[in-house]
Amino acid sequence: TRIDMAKFAKFCKDMGFVYQSSEIYGGINGFWDYGPLGVELKRNIKEAWWQDMVRNPPPGPSGQEIRMVGLDCSIIMNPKVWVASGHVATFADPTRKCPGCGKFTRADQLWAILAESDWMNSLLQEFDPVTGKYDSPRLMKWAKGKGQKLAPNLALVKNPEVTLSFLATRVNGQPEAPPSLQEFTRYVATEQLEATGLQEPCPACGAPLGEAKQVSLMFESHAGLDKTEESKVYLRPETAQGIFANYRNVLDSTRLKLPFGIAQVGKAFRNEVTPRNFTFRSREFEQMEIEFFCHPAESQQWYEYWRDLRKKWYSTLGIQSDNLKPREQGADEVAFYSIGTTDIEYLFPFSDDPQELEGVAHRGAYDLGQHAKHSGMAEKFMYFDEERWNADSAGRTTNSFKEWMKTNPPAADVEKYQFTPHVIEPSAGADRFTLAVLCEAYTEDKVPDAKGNEETRVVMKFHPRLAPIKAAIFPLVNKDGMPERATALYRALKPHFNVFYDDKGAVGRRYRRQDEAGTPFCITIDGQTAEDDTVTIRDRDTLKQERVKVADVRGVIEKALTP
Ligand code: GAP
Repeated sequence: TRIDMAKFAKFCKDMGFVYQSSEIYGGINGFWDYGPLGVELKRNIKEAWWQDMVRNPPPGPSGQEIRMVGLDCSIIMNPKVWVASGHVATFADPTRKCPGCGKFTRADQLWAILAESDWMNSLLQEFDPVTGKYDSPRLMKWAKGKGQKLAPNLALVKNPEVTLSFLATRVNGQPEAPPSLQEFTRYVATEQLEATGLQEPCPACGAPLGEAKQVSLMFESHAGLDKTEESKVYLRPETAQGIFANYRNVLDSTRLKLPFGIAQVGKAFRNEVTPRNFTFRSREFEQMEIEFFCHPAESQQWYEYWRDLRKKWYSTLGIQSDNLKPREQGADEVAFYSIGTTDIEYLFPFSDDPQELEGVAHRGAYDLGQHAKHSGMAEKFMYFDEERWNADSAGRTTNSFKEWMKTNPPAADVEKYQFTPHVIEPSAGADRFTLAVLCEAYTEDKVPDAKGNEETRVVMKFHPRLAPIKAAIFPLVNKDGMPERATALYRALKPHFNVFYDDKGAVGRRYRRQDEAGTPFCITIDGQTAEDDTVTIRDRDTLKQERVKVADVRGVIEKALTP
């Protein structure tokens, strides 16, 4: 179901999940801040990823242990890194600049943006099926057959269902499958443009747009006080390159053997042409990336391992599998160096089409090969698989690889033992997943209020591992020793996980506030606590209350937090 994103952004702000950056100065397009609840949520997401992927990944395809280590690299690197990676030359988006108002629009997003623009709105408002060019007699006839009477000045927006399914035949050729509003608006607009002979309009001012040009997405700065071409540096547009640049360092300092993975979580910056859809496309964001290095002959099985594991991870953290869509990229989309890429997509409530949460790419030997070439240190990127060479020693008369090489073995045999490792790259966005978690958790429920009447409550159904606050502690009233007992429990729990103490207002209202924050457990200290040392634990989703010994409270919560 769609959520009104403006309403949702306001809810996120009011609750302290996400604020617009520098809001008091009118904000800044493409930048966001996380509030007190949001920062906990995003930390929990990054920590869950690190725990499940780096410290405790599941066994590999043949039951073997997976070796993973982490890195934390600088954001600004030697600019040669970005020449080698190809970013300086090709990290760009096709963009149109409006000759009227000077605004930039990403060419491949123009129609999605236009669909929501004033220009499109006024086009739709003017749509008149009687006098317009959209085959109005057929529309009238079809509507009559369905028992619908159309007013002569019917506007599409007044009767969207009838009009949409009629137009389905014309837009996508299938009468039973109405086009999405996006498809429909594009159809109307294209006809309109054709009829008037106009160029694509600027979404901001409606003036005809100019030609599309490639515009670099790299953020630039200078290192040092001389602001010259020589001192120019870039803010990293991905965390991946820090991993490739350190590949040899990690091998040397850890003595890891293939296959193994290196992980990094950190900020990345892209000067996106049209940041949009709340935090979905931002100019500053965080990535959670793994580069998994393996033997070329085994790369396909590792690609499948990571693709399946990454999809499953989202489900175990509460993303409904219906909204999660893994999609193998088509030949026309895959980057030129990639052997295969699967986008794990999520059906965000702001769009009819699923959008990328993560890309799992089989990058072959491209990245290490590029750094081997550009650094002039090719030997550092060559891997000698000694274990494999030894394992295959039967029938060999030579004692070392060097000696064996002198016997002029066939190139295909040499490549089996000495090669540039292949890379599988699961690359996820921490902010994108945070947005998906927020959307997925948002629920409006009907619950009985104190008088037994129905009341609507907003509840954020976060997975307990991700919930910003794990438990709230309430003294039922502020007397009879209850605050003292509640404080003691609060102090006993807070070294272990994030707990919140609230003694203000009616207990029903305190529950509601925690539902909106997505707190899975509310613990109430009441009159009975003094008698038998028990408290009630209320479950956010079932609303059930259970009496539990004070000494058992921590165990109940920790059980829910265990992966
Ligand atoms: N190293 C590969 C790489 O960076 P990508 O598909 O460009 O691949 C990976 O980015 C992930 O980073 C995306 O799936 C998305 O989750 C996140 N991401 C990319 N651009 C973003 C943006 N402008 N705002 C928020 N997240 C973004």
